[in-house]
Amino acid sequence: MSEQILSISSADIGFNDAESLIESVELSVDEGEIVGLTGRSGIGKTTLIRTCAGLIPNLSGIIRFAGESLDSKTCGDIGLIPQRLGLIQHQTVGYNVLMGALPRAKWYQSVFSLPSAEMREATRKAVEVVGLQDKILTSVNSLSGGQQRRVAIARAMVQNPRLLLADECLGELDAETVKDIINLLRNLADSGTSILIVDHNPVRAKTFCNRVMQLRGKRLVELGDDEQDTTPALPVLRRPENE
Ligand SMILES: Nc1ncnc2c1ncn2[C@@H]1O[C@H](COP(=O)(O)OP(=O)(O)OP(=O)(O)O)[C@@H](O)[C@H]1O
Ligand SMILES: [Mg+2]
Repeated sequence: MSEQILSISSADIGFNDAESLIESVELSVDEGEIVGLTGRSGIGKTTLIRTCAGLIPNLSGIIRFAGESLDSKTCGDIGLIPQRLGLIQHQTVGYNVLMGALPRAKWYQSVFSLPSAEMREATRKAVEVVGLQDKILTSVNSLSGGQQRRVAIARAMVQNPRLLLADECLGELDAETVKDIINLLRNLADSGTSILIVDHNPVRAKTFCNRVMQLRGKRLVELGDDEQDTTPALPVLRRPENE
């Protein structure tokens, strides 16, 4: 049986004890499993992801990492691809990706900025996998939104986390790149990484996730195989008839 890497039970999530955003969350992500997280804008997906990363305390209940308290995780165990990416804008693609290796680096490598040959090779590989090898020496602030997203994905890959929390990492990308990134995520999962990924598109999420969870109101529920997405569709704007 595979190990439970993330487990949340009876947890209320949010910023305010008096009014939680999400109630009684029950969620688990096993080793090598990809779990999708969907729901309308503003419902609490990022808040849940950041709570799983230990950045926001849960209001109640228990969150465990590999059976232990979330606080006991070692540096580098959890990788986060934030919705707002968190890249160092004036630095190059290579520098930003290399930063992903630091949580697992030896102290003197971090302090003296002395990346090992292995760290540099992992950086080169990850940049290549996301298709940015021609941009490795380019400053991040001159890249497009989608290219920056790919830098953030490469940075998380170099970290080699046991649990990867990906907040909308498939946004702003063309269909071909989305396919490549999904393949990449599946390969990571096949090699044992557990992934919790926010995707606004539940139909797409079902194609590559083992399970898809949906936030509805204040509840987190599993989206069934034959179930339709309940997120209201965007209004269709029609051109006036006589134009
Ligand atoms: N630091 C904060 N303090 C208080 N409330 C916050 C904070 N950050 C977010 N919120 C509120 O929590 C709610 C959920 O926000 P969150 O960013 O988790 O939504 P989301 O589902 O990720 O939305 P989107 O799909 O637009 O990214 C929103 O109403 C937001 O205003
Ligand atoms: Mg969000």
